[in-house]
Amino acid sequence: MRVICRIAHERDVEDALSLLDRVGQMREGAMAELRYWRVLEANGSLIAMGGIEYCGADAALLRSLAVPASLRGKGYGQLLVKELVGVARDLGAARVYAFSTGAMPFFTKLGWKRVQVDELVSALPDAPQVESFRKRGWLPTEVAWRAP
Ligand SMILES: CC(C)(COP(=O)(O)OP(=O)(O)OC[C@H]1O[C@@H](n2cnc3c(N)ncnc32)[C@H](O)[C@@H]1OP(=O)(O)O)[C@@H](O)C(=O)NCCC(=O)NCCS
Repeated sequence: MRVICRIAHERDVEDALSLLDRVGQMREGAMAELRYWRVLEANGSLIAMGGIEYCGADAALLRSLAVPASLRGKGYGQLLVKELVGVARDLGAARVYAFSTGAMPFFTKLGWKRVQVDELVSALPDAPQVESFRKRGWLPTEVAWRAP
């Protein structure tokens, strides 16, 4: 299967949101600024995705990484993280963070360090996902990660 990684387009939004539903990730704020989102495409179909939230400081948030269960373990998640960290660095983000309680072995394998949620929130106080998690009362039970 030939897989390409490309910037997300408006025509991807419906498939992307449906993929987020399937992997149990929230839709809120997803695909908001398409230039910061990447999708993997195979045979003309969207197979995986992820995005960056960037609010103009020197930090960015990687979010909504989604690979369907049937396609896991093939390196697609790792490929997306590499691309998205590159997007964040190009924007000027020296520090790239993510929230994840469900993919701890994945982020650990990729060399990400677990950090205090407060560190992420201080670096990205206005990030939409931080706002969502604050509003939903999820921050106390979240797990934060920083890219190597
Ligand atoms: C997390 C997720 C994106 C990983 O995608 P993936 O395509 O399966 O990951 P990769 O194949 O690129 O894995 C990269 C490495 O991490 C390891 N890894 C991935 N998931 C793992 C797990 N649950 N346990 C142990 N190792 C894991 C892989 O074995 C691989 O190691 P290797 O290079 O030695 O083979 C996918 O499981 C997913 O969509 N989960 C649900 C949504 C989610 O939790 N997103 C993260 C929040 S932003």
